[in-house]
Amino acid sequence: MVSSSLPESGLPVSRVPDSRDAPALRWGIMGPGWIAERFTESVQAYSTQVIAAVGSRSLERSKTFADAFGLPAAYGSYEELATAPDIDIVYVCTPHNFHHAAAVLAIDAGKHVLIEKPIGLNAAQARDIAARARAAGVFAAEAMWSFFLPKFDVIRQVLDGGMLGTVTTVLAEYGEHFERSHRIFDPALAGGPLLDLGTYPLALITEVLGAPEQLSAFGQPHEAGVNAQLSAILRFPGGSQAVINTHLHNFTPTMATIVGSEATLTIDGPFNMPGGFEVRFPDGTRLRYNEAAGGHLEGLHYEAAAVARAIAAGDTETRQRPLASSIRTMDVADEIRRQTGIEFPGEGNAPA
Ligand SMILES: NC(=O)c1ccc[n+]([C@@H]2O[C@H](COP(=O)([O-])OP(=O)(O)OC[C@H]3O[C@@H](n4cnc5c(N)ncnc54)[C@H](OP(=O)(O)O)[C@@H]3O)[C@@H](O)[C@H]2O)c1
Repeated sequence: MVSSSLPESGLPVSRVPDSRDAPALRWGIMGPGWIAERFTESVQAYSTQVIAAVGSRSLERSKTFADAFGLPAAYGSYEELATAPDIDIVYVCTPHNFHHAAAVLAIDAGKHVLIEKPIGLNAAQARDIAARARAAGVFAAEAMWSFFLPKFDVIRQVLDGGMLGTVTTVLAEYGEHFERSHRIFDPALAGGPLLDLGTYPLALITEVLGAPEQLSAFGQPHEAGVNAQLSAILRFPGGSQAVINTHLHNFTPTMATIVGSEATLTIDGPFNMPGGFEVRFPDGTRLRYNEAAGGHLEGLHYEAAAVARAIAAGDTETRQRPLASSIRTMDVADEIRRQTGIEFPGEGNAPA
C-alpha cells in the first residue's frame, strides 16, 4: 500500500481511499497494447474492478490478451466490444489518433469511457468527446492517472491551503529514451514527445496556473519525420510564468517544481508517478511527503477506483480531471503545435 503523509510531517494527509473499497465496474479494454497490460495488472492486483472483456482489431490478439489476464470475453473488433451488453465502461487505450473515434464508438453505444491521455489529438476532438458524452448522459474522463495518486491529493491541499503563498513559477520537464521501433517515431501515429510525454507537464502547469495568456514555443525536428524536442515559456494572468521541455532524446529527472512567494514544492522525479515531494521554506524548514516510489502497477488502479466511485455517485466526470481541464491542456498543446509547425496526418479542422 502507498502510505500517506503523517500529520506530524506538517503536511496534509491524503484523502484518497483504498482502491479496494470502490464499487466494482465491468471494464472493457479497447486496444490491448502496452498501457492496457499495465492497467489490467494494476487493477487486478490492487482493486476489485472487473476487467470483463477486451477488444482488438484482431481476434487473435484479443484472445492472447484475454488468456494472459484471465478475461472471460475477447472480441475481434472495437465495435463488438462497444456494444457488448455486460460492459459498463470502455477504457480507450489505442494510439492517440484513434482516441476520438474509439471514444465515440463507446459513447454511441451508451458506454461510459475512460480515455488514455491525451484525450484526443487536439482541443476540437476533446470538446467533441465532452459534448457527445454530455448529450448521451454517460461518464467521460481522460486517464491522467497522476492526478488520481494519493500524493496529488496532498499537493492539491497544499496549494488550496495557501502554504506556498502566491504561485509565481512552475517548471516541468519530461524526456525519455525510446527504441526506434516505438510508435513515438511514427508520424502516422501522431508521434513525437508532445502527446506522449509533454501532456504530463502541460497538465500540471495548467492545473496549477490555469490557461496561459501568452506562450512562446520552439521545436526541433527528428529525422523520422516527427518533432524531437520542444520547449515553451508560458505567461499567465497576474504575471506568473511556466517553463516546459519535452523530448524523445533520452531520460531526464522528470522533475516538477512549483514556486510560491512563501515556499517551493518540488516533486520527486518522475513527477507523474507514485513518489514523494518536498516543501522548502526560505528559513531552511523542509516538509517531506513520503509516498513509496512506484510505477504503473502501483499507480493506475487509483484512477479506475476514482472513476468507479464517481459513476456510482451518478457523476459524469471526475473532480480530479474534469473534461474542461483536459480541453484546457489541449488548447495549450494546439498553440504549441501552431507555433512549432507540428502537424498530425488526417487531422482536419473538425474532429478527425
Ligand atoms: N498512462 C500512461 O502512463 C501511459 C503510458 C503509455 C501510453 N499511454 C497512452 O496510451 C495510448 C496507447 O499507448 P501504448 O503505448 O499502449 O501503445 P501500443 O502498445 O502501441 O498499443 C496501442 C494499441 O492500440 C491498437 N491500435 C489501434 N489502431 C492502431 C494502429 N493503427 N496502429 C497501432 N496500434 C493500433 C493496437 O491494438 P489492436 O491492433 O490489437 O487493436 C495496439 O495494441 C497512447 O495514447 C499513450 O499516450 C499512457
